[in-house]
Amino acid sequence: MAKIIVFNGAPRKNGATASLIQAFTESAANSGNEVREAYIQGMNIQNYLGCDVCMKTHKGCVQKDEGMAKIYEDLTWCDTIVFASPVHFAYMTAQLRAVVDRMWAWFNLPGNFGAKRKTVLISTSRGGDYTAILQQYGMYAMLGWEDIGHILGAGKENEAKALGASIK
Ligand SMILES: Cc1cc2nc3c(=O)[nH]c(=O)nc-3n(C[C@H](O)[C@H](O)[C@H](O)COP(=O)(O)O)c2cc1C
Repeated sequence: MAKIIVFNGAPRKNGATASLIQAFTESAANSGNEVREAYIQGMNIQNYLGCDVCMKTHKGCVQKDEGMAKIYEDLTWCDTIVFASPVHFAYMTAQLRAVVDRMWAWFNLPGNFGAKRKTVLISTSRGGDYTAILQQYGMYAMLGWEDIGHILGAGKENEAKALGASIK
């Protein structure tokens, strides 16, 4: 049984990305996995500051926003992370990008750098070009994490269900 956190970077609550997320999470939960979802747009999450204090103190982020505190807890709890976002100007949304940058403070906590996680990318776009967002998502490799699948394209709920069901 996996512990899955979905970082939902889609601003639209009922859009094409949300529909893929729903198909994936329902199927993953029905297969016995524990699934959490963070709807980033609805959370108090500030942008990365670049202060580097977390690198010196190894005591986490100086910003005490409760949305990001929940994300840090989810990062520690999970073994699988789903990065979900529509393509906005070729890349992930600013909402999701803020979370990715803020993960830096979590990596600087003792024992977290090198922690193993599996990752998934869920995305939708109008034009169907996922080159840039895939490149951005490539951070999983920099972090030593393992990519276990992508769902790219509105309407691919069946693929999302199959991937959700395959996670153990
Ligand atoms: C601000 C903005 C920028 C977008 N940029 C792109 C883009 O660069 N390439 C593309 O194919 N679609 C782009 N789109 C279209 C969305 O990616 C597409 O409609 C997506 O399925 C919306 O997902 P949602 O329903 O979950 O919001 C953009 C949409 C918005 C609102």
